[in-house]
Amino acid sequence: MTHIAVLGSTNMDLVAYVPKAPQRGETVTGREFRTIPGGKGANQAVAAAHAGADVSLIGAVGADAFGSQLRSTLEHSGVDTDHLRTTEGPSGTAHIVVDDEGGNAIVVVPGANGTVTALAPGDEGLIATADALLLQLEIPLDAVVAGARAARRHGVRTILTPSPAQPLAAELLGAIDLLLPNEHEAAALTGVTDPYEAAAALLEQVPQVVVTLGAAGSLYAARGARPLTVSAPRVTAVDSTGAGDTFAGTLAVALAEGREMPEALVWASAAAALSVQRPGASSSMPYRSEIDAQAAQSNGARS
Ligand code: RIB
Ligand code: NA
Repeated sequence: MTHIAVLGSTNMDLVAYVPKAPQRGETVTGREFRTIPGGKGANQAVAAAHAGADVSLIGAVGADAFGSQLRSTLEHSGVDTDHLRTTEGPSGTAHIVVDDEGGNAIVVVPGANGTVTALAPGDEGLIATADALLLQLEIPLDAVVAGARAARRHGVRTILTPSPAQPLAAELLGAIDLLLPNEHEAAALTGVTDPYEAAAALLEQVPQVVVTLGAAGSLYAARGARPLTVSAPRVTAVDSTGAGDTFAGTLAVALAEGREMPEALVWASAAAALSVQRPGASSSMPYRSEIDAQAAQSNGARS
């Protein structure tokens, strides 16, 4: 079995489902409220575990009821939480509004995630045994850099989802093998709105880039190769929260299993398409057999 390590956030998602998100100063009545385990790190870990990998999550939860709930949900999904610390104070929370089109707006309050400023003893040893390290930007940057460098020292593939978007030091990008922004993050990182041009600009800093394009699929660019696009299955979205994380976790598993990028992208797109048809982040992540079935159906048209 492949082993994926994830260094990142764990949040309790507090989700209100509304017909239309409120404007500033406006109050709207929601239809439903749910608490669903989330956080980009935990989501990617659950996605990779459901896709069939051995997964370990490095991070922190708070010493509160959310913290124990988050930990037990992760364990129930088969994620190893031995490197998930419990710190004083509250767990991370994400305050999410999901509208009738399945779109969302999110406020994240980091809580315990903010205490993850460095690797703890044992974390590097764990990273060294992994086939890939997945990173995002919901914990302090110093820890992300430390994780990426540790992976590099041991020849472990590093995959960074640059979300939430923020300027990235050359120091970090220099330790990344595959950068996985969505189109908005790619534009924010480069100042270029066209995803092909943004990917080309990012290749000056990292050897491989995959830009996720939502319903339009994904775009792969690598140094010295012709860019490739893979379409996404056509589905009706009810909640796109965590779709990017599903894509990242599933893609990491496919690549760790030695699949070629085009096939890996079809598989990750299939997983993301399944996840947007169900409410919530971690609660919507498909299992390997479902992903296989969806991938077999999708034309996965490449160009
Ligand atoms: O990427 C989706 C995640 O972003 C949600 O689960 C929420 O916790 C926020 O961190
Ligand atoms: Na979902």
